[in-house]
Amino acid sequence: MTTADVEGRDLQRHRKNDDVAESLPHHVAVIMDGNSRWARARGMPTSAGHAALQPALEETVRLSCARGIRVLTAFAFSHQNWDRPKEEVDFCMAVYNRFIQDNVAQFLREGIRLRVIGDCSRLPTYLQKTAQNAEEETSSNSQLDLMLAIGYSGRTDILQACGKLARKVHSKLLRPEDIDESLFADELQTSWTDEFPCPDLLIRTSGELRLSNFLLWQSAYSELFFTDTLWPDFGEAEYLQALMSFQSRDRRFGKRKL
Ligand code: IPE
Ligand code: MG
Repeated sequence: MTTADVEGRDLQRHRKNDDVAESLPHHVAVIMDGNSRWARARGMPTSAGHAALQPALEETVRLSCARGIRVLTAFAFSHQNWDRPKEEVDFCMAVYNRFIQDNVAQFLREGIRLRVIGDCSRLPTYLQKTAQNAEEETSSNSQLDLMLAIGYSGRTDILQACGKLARKVHSKLLRPEDIDESLFADELQTSWTDEFPCPDLLIRTSGELRLSNFLLWQSAYSELFFTDTLWPDFGEAEYLQALMSFQSRDRRFGKRKL
């Protein structure tokens, strides 16, 4: 049997085995990287790579629902990505807008609640409206919380949380000594999803081995999974590999297991 055969057999088993559901992550985060390289490798313009984000994300959402994942956070666009050429930025915004518009009906059918995180004030008005409408329409869903990070920065998220706490202290709603991890986390943008704000599994595609200012506070104990696969090629086999890798990890959270 070749390695590929063994992996294929394991994936088949994994697909069938309901017992493994227990050890699946509650919250999966994905850094959807490699879109431009995917396009370049095909002699296509960068925009084609960004457009190819959509089907791969839709499949990841679908698989997450099917597996009973409770929260999926997808890093679409970082704060630093604003510095890319305007034409590219505009195209990316249009892709995210279309992704949301094309999928609202699906979100309603599947019980998916959407929230866009990041500095939404910098998003084009049409995208702000699309996001707001979709957030309102899906607000009572409870199967899967889908957080789409656009113009997101982990450091900015931490800073804005500090600002909120400082204002509460200033107006005497809070004493500095009352601030603990839980109060702090409540001020982060991810607190919206209340039950599982921290990713158990964080996946990055395209072979880059860094967090790039994603969920910095929230990823303190995330299991990391890196794959060379470029985001547009990320599908069921790659997702299952990431989930299987997660299931093989020994999560101790710094403690000693008895
Ligand atoms: C990720 O794809 C999407 C965005 C950052 C907007 P990239 O455009 O970073 O693709 P690569 O990493 O250059 O291939
Ligand atoms: Mg990149």
